[in-house]
Formats: sequence, C-alpha cells, structure tokens
Amino acid sequence: MPSLNSFPIRYKERPYGDSCILWVEAPEIARDARPGQFVTVGCDGLMLRRPLSVHRVKGEELALMFSATGTGTRWLSERKEGERLDLLGPLGRGFELPPSPTRILLIGGGKGIFPLIFLSEWALDRGFRVSLILGAKTREKLYPAHLVPCGVNLSLITEDGSYGDRGKVTDLLPLSGEVNYIYACGPSSMYREATLKLSGKEVQVLLEVRMGCGVGACHCCTINTKRGPKKVCQDGPTFLLDDILWDELSL
Ligand code: FES
Repeated sequence: MPSLNSFPIRYKERPYGDSCILWVEAPEIARDARPGQFVTVGCDGLMLRRPLSVHRVKGEELALMFSATGTGTRWLSERKEGERLDLLGPLGRGFELPPSPTRILLIGGGKGIFPLIFLSEWALDRGFRVSLILGAKTREKLYPAHLVPCGVNLSLITEDGSYGDRGKVTDLLPLSGEVNYIYACGPSSMYREATLKLSGKEVQVLLEVRMGCGVGACHCCTINTKRGPKKVCQDGPTFLLDDILWDELSL
C-alpha cells in the first residue's frame, strides 16, 4: 500500500554534472520499495507531482536521484537537509528477478543508470552475479564508476570515447557468455537498437514517460503494447522490451 506523507531530507549529494541525490528518511516507503518502482514528489508551485525512480535504499532511508534540468527538479535540487518532502510511494511494478540466483546483465544508458543501482544492490544481496554495461555521450555525463556497487562486473563506454570504449551501450551487445536475464533503462533510441540485438532474449526495460497522477487515474501515460494499451504508472514502469510497440511510441 503506497504511503503519502512528508519526510525529512537527511543528506544531499551532487555526484556529477547537474545530478543530485536526496536521501530521505521514509521508513514506510523504504521498507516496501522494490527495484524499478518510483515515488511521486510534490514540488512547490507545480500542479503535477514529479515521478522519480528509487535510486537506492539503506535501512529506513531511500535515495532519489535526478538531473536538475526542469522546474520541478531544479526546485528539488535546492532543498536542504532537514527540509521535508511530500512523497507518495512506492508506486508501479518493479523489475522481476528469476527465482534462483544466476547471472544477470544490466544496461544503463545516460540517466537510465539511476534506478539500476538499486537493482544491482538488491540482486548482489541475493547472491546474483551482476554485469553492468554503463554508457553516456561523454565522460562528464557518465555515472561515476566508483559509485557502482562493489561486486558488479562493469563495462564502460562513451559515444565520444572520452572514457572507456568508444560507442553506444548497444555496441557491446550481445555480451560474451550466456546471460538470459537482462534489465535495461535508458533513452528510447537505446531500446530501439536493443530490440534488434537482443531479439529472442527476455529483456525487462524501465520506461520513463510524462505522468500526471502517477496512480492510474488520468490515462496520460498510456502506451500501446502487444497486449493492448497499458498505463506506465500502474502496469509498468517495467515492461518486456518485445511487448512494446516502439513505432507507436513517442518518447
Ligand atoms: Fe495518470 Fe498514469 S499518470 S494514469
């Protein structure tokens, strides 16, 4: 059952570029949150709440990571430790891991890495072997490697070659070795290329779309899938890559 309350910010980080992490003490949400789920945040002066994926969970605190590029996220990035945030969550359907530990592959493009950090920690804690392909346009936009959890087998790539290999994350696919469980988050262009390279594999992807209510009431996040129309906020935000009708999607 999602919790709606105001919770104190305990710690703020500015890890790189325009990104910001707010650690919020929200025991009810931290206890129930699963990787891939999100919360909505009330932002001063904005009618619509802002959806943010859960980036990490530690004890009674959860971390929300975002780029401060819009009105709401800029306002959030200016909040100080001790101030309270109005949060509703956890919301949506998170990633599903296989029933017993095995090797999994995570693919994070740009800001798509934010929710995958929670998934990698969750999986490592449960005995999974985790490989991560992490990419961005440039070194400045790349999630810092030292923040990736210990134990993750990491491959880095940038489009301009300023760090790691040169190219896109999809250039490293398929990764050598057998891996049947793949989880991805990134821009729609990455997903479109992944559909060509990973056909036949079961790939769970996390979609980030514009939302209104965040709880299935307004239909503004509806997408078309092979199983009919689906609401990203309620039926997702995780979907099977092959289920989405990409040609009918404008992200
Ligand atoms: Fe309102 Fe999804 S945001 S139904």
